[in-house]
Amino acid sequence: MPTSARPPARDVVVVGGGIVGLAVAWRAAAAGLTVTVLDPAPGDGASRAAAGMLAAVNEADFGERDLARLNLAAAARWPSFAAGLAAASGRDVPLLRAGSLAVAYDADDLALLRRALALHRAWGLASEEISAADARRREPYLGPRLAGAAVVEGDLAVDPRGAHAALVAALDVARGAPLGAPLDGAAGGTVVRQGAVRLERSPTGRVVAVHDDAGTRHAAGAVVLATGATATGALLDGLPQVRLPVRPVKGITLRLDAGPGLALEHVVRGTVQGRPVYVVPRAAGTGAGAGSGPNHREIVVGATTEERPDDRRAEAGGVFALLRDARALVPGIDEAALVEVTPRARPVTPDNLPLVGPTAAPGLLAAVGHGRNGVLLAPLTADAVLAALTDLTDPTDPGPAAAALAATDPLRFATRGAPA
Ligand code: GLY
Repeated sequence: MPTSARPPARDVVVVGGGIVGLAVAWRAAAAGLTVTVLDPAPGDGASRAAAGMLAAVNEADFGERDLARLNLAAAARWPSFAAGLAAASGRDVPLLRAGSLAVAYDADDLALLRRALALHRAWGLASEEISAADARRREPYLGPRLAGAAVVEGDLAVDPRGAHAALVAALDVARGAPLGAPLDGAAGGTVVRQGAVRLERSPTGRVVAVHDDAGTRHAAGAVVLATGATATGALLDGLPQVRLPVRPVKGITLRLDAGPGLALEHVVRGTVQGRPVYVVPRAAGTGAGAGSGPNHREIVVGATTEERPDDRRAEAGGVFALLRDARALVPGIDEAALVEVTPRARPVTPDNLPLVGPTAAPGLLAAVGHGRNGVLLAPLTADAVLAALTDLTDPTDPGPAAAALAATDPLRFATRGAPA
């Protein structure tokens, strides 16, 4: 890593308090750095809509081999990340370990599923075709009209809101002071609920501070951008050498309270007449969405995908289509209560790979553009950013993860001039 990325004062400002930004902040604080996170509404961007599938295999798609490698390396980090976060925060960060079932509604959907399984075989990803009857034996809540299925035993899932809340708590614990109190110079992290409006550079061009919308200057040895689709470009005015092309791709997710009656155990992903849909359960009594309570059983249905901005509108047609397709796979959701509709934009890059690491501006690092995989990629991104901040290689896994992370170099668009 270039030495320019090393913060001379070992003091970091993270812009953006979604799950990626907070994971970076927590890992940095745990490593002894002082950290400030700037976000007017931490966790209210893409993280709020995320279902929490850690679906390295099921997200693998044609033409995205580098992303599949990255996702696999990231998935391997989640068990230890969740355990460390639970210990640091004093909160449970449970992983759903039942695996996922990929299901096909009709014969054309089965053809699509078999194409995906052939891709998995070619790339050495573990998945196995099973009959619809076998899928129903594993998951009795699947509907009667399925053309076929596959199982991915290794796919995990997590409640992103629970993980985000644990990260806030872990930062607090690292600092040993109430949330929002000013840092006193000790190692740890604080979350400041203000938006970043400007990056300040020294006469030599190094990014040395972030100004927030309350007029406060946050001096930083290094600044990490962990912003979403909208804020990233705005902060880069005046830094033409830094190109971080991230665009919004809107998605709507739904949260249902299934109550005790629909004890779905597996992540169910499917295509219904060519349309993708997923249904993600949580363990009974867990799930930090609306409707929580002892008998609450959260189920997340997702997600629409549209090339449009983060307008926070939940179009009736999108909600209707999600419910229609989800009930084709899991008819029991008819009885569940719809408790939340969450429209947000995913931050997506031109090649669907995130931008992670030092940028062309000294003192400025990127952790942006995680697209469909922000929750999955958060721990690996945090470790990569920490390694860049401290100029260390990651001692836990210098091999596959380092190779996978090479594809996320933020300089790739600056040097190749690819379209934004
Ligand atoms: N991670 C799935 C989605 O973005 O819809």
